[in-house]
Amino acid sequence: MTLQPTLFLMVGLPAAGKSTVAREIESTHRALRLSPDEWMIPLFGESDADGRRDLLEGLLIDVAVRALHLGMNVILDFGLWGRDERTALRTLGEAAGAHVVLRYVDVDEEAQARRIGERWAADPEATFPMSPTDLVRWRAQFEVPTPDELAGSHLDEPPSGSSWAEWARTRWPSLR
Ligand SMILES: Nc1ncnc2c1ncn2[C@@H]1O[C@H](COP(=O)(O)OP(=O)(O)OP(=O)(O)O)[C@@H](O)[C@H]1O
Ligand SMILES: [Mg+2]
Repeated sequence: MTLQPTLFLMVGLPAAGKSTVAREIESTHRALRLSPDEWMIPLFGESDADGRRDLLEGLLIDVAVRALHLGMNVILDFGLWGRDERTALRTLGEAAGAHVVLRYVDVDEEAQARRIGERWAADPEATFPMSPTDLVRWRAQFEVPTPDELAGSHLDEPPSGSSWAEWARTRWPSLR
């Protein structure tokens, strides 16, 4: 019997501790962890680089879907600030036969600022600069997952005239 694989979607603001939790899941669930910063910084020396992060994420989603079809557990360690992004990836994961788990990692302002400072001091190669103004702006943009979303008990309809798969291909243009 083949066990149903799990797709873990890491959700949270910068320095919330997503990659730390993702590494724990990697070992406890033998899951393939896909963390874009580990690719963006060695490839381009920065975290976004003219939209190439979206291209990289699309390629990593393709890898994730192929791994799920092979029965492997997968972690997409993207942050996923938007409810639409999370719903689209839930739909893709379920279409690939996976059980989908949203792992929301919450952090308050003070701990977030402290962790950013400590991480920058300890390992500047692994991250990128973040100003106090960035942190305020990002927190306002971030859509905190609702309880029904975390429980997976409700799936939003896709934007009108579209499907979540189509929406995902617009959001992540390299996605096949
Ligand atoms: N529960 C925790 N308590 C204290 N420090 C933590 C905790 N979790 C993570 N950290 C520290 O906070 C920093 C940020 O953690 P991590 O890299 O896991 O965050 P992240 O959400 O993946 O950030 P990013 O969005 O920038 O990738 C690291 O230095 C990490 O060691
Ligand atoms: Mg991270």
